Amino acid sequence: DKGNHRHFMAKEIHEQPEVVGRTLAHYVDMAGGRIALPGPLPFEFAKLSRLSITACGTAFYAGLVAKYWFETIARLPVEIDVASETRYREPPLESGGLTLVISQSGETADTLASLRYAKAQGQHTLSVVNVPTSTIARESSAVMPTLAGPEIGVASTKAFSCQLTVLLCLAIAAGRARGTIDAARERALVDALITVPGLMAESVTMEPQVETLAREIAKARDVLYLGRGTSYPMALEGALKLKEISYIHAEGYAAGELKHGPIALIDESVPVIVIAPHDAIFEKTVSNMQEVAARGGKIILVGDARGAAAAGLDTLATLTMPDVDPVVAPIVYAVPVQLIAYHTAVFMGKDVDQPRNLAKSVTVE
Ligand code: M6R
Repeated sequence: DKGNHRHFMAKEIHEQPEVVGRTLAHYVDMAGGRIALPGPLPFEFAKLSRLSITACGTAFYAGLVAKYWFETIARLPVEIDVASETRYREPPLESGGLTLVISQSGETADTLASLRYAKAQGQHTLSVVNVPTSTIARESSAVMPTLAGPEIGVASTKAFSCQLTVLLCLAIAAGRARGTIDAARERALVDALITVPGLMAESVTMEPQVETLAREIAKARDVLYLGRGTSYPMALEGALKLKEISYIHAEGYAAGELKHGPIALIDESVPVIVIAPHDAIFEKTVSNMQEVAARGGKIILVGDARGAAAAGLDTLATLTMPDVDPVVAPIVYAVPVQLIAYHTAVFMGKDVDQPRNLAKSVTVE
């Protein structure tokens, strides 16, 4: 049932404040200002020397964001790869170590194969899955569920934001266990998490502006997405979302990589979507935007008012996001990233819920 939405994807984008809130309620002791994981862990974060993460597609991008969180909050080194590479690369994995797999469906063939490989290496396996009865959930030593509810649209939206939510909770729990954050820092992180559903709801109100912008993006043959830090995986996710439902060629890049190749593509016909909350590395991204502007590139800034003022650049459009704590920015910024892809594809008359050549659950290699 799509409710009063035209597509499941629209419904699922709009549901995010609610399902992220529900997921948070499952992982956060609100009164205590701390993370309370819903189940015991069969390993100790404090004893790990590294964490291996594997997943496909959008779930892989959630894992890439989580790498920043685990490394900064818990000082836990993270190795991450797409599951189709992990399974055949057969990386050396320490017995007693931890592999984290992320999957909405819990049935993705490559992700399942990587999970089985990790188990065969004597690793503990922790899965973040949306379907609790799935094969991946059943075969993992521990499961941390996302409470997104059934996701019908082929393009993953609410499962992604719930994955990010669970992964941040896990990184905070790891930080506490490893003594890299104190109770005050944990409380501050939890306070930031609690603001997320409201901020996502606020971000959805930009929809009319995104609809107008989508008409411009629809004219493009190629679109570049740029971001730094946790906004880099968000740029990758933005590009995937756009290409899978609008069939416009899109690439996501780390903003700092611009001058190592992609800058050659910049001209007035290539929109450059810059994901840039006003965080510690914002100024670095501004210099990349200047490089784009100097070559006549059309910038679409997804940022906040402070950032837009500080950048002081002419943009094709600025989607002004609410101020967010930079730690939780990826979860909130998922909304405009999804809305851009959705409205571009709808404007182009594409079948957003059932894009060509794609299946919701990729159970074969
Ligand atoms: O069910 P999974 O999370 O394991 O699926 C992984 C990918 O197939 C999936 O995220 C895919 O990339 C989506 N269609 C992206 O929107």
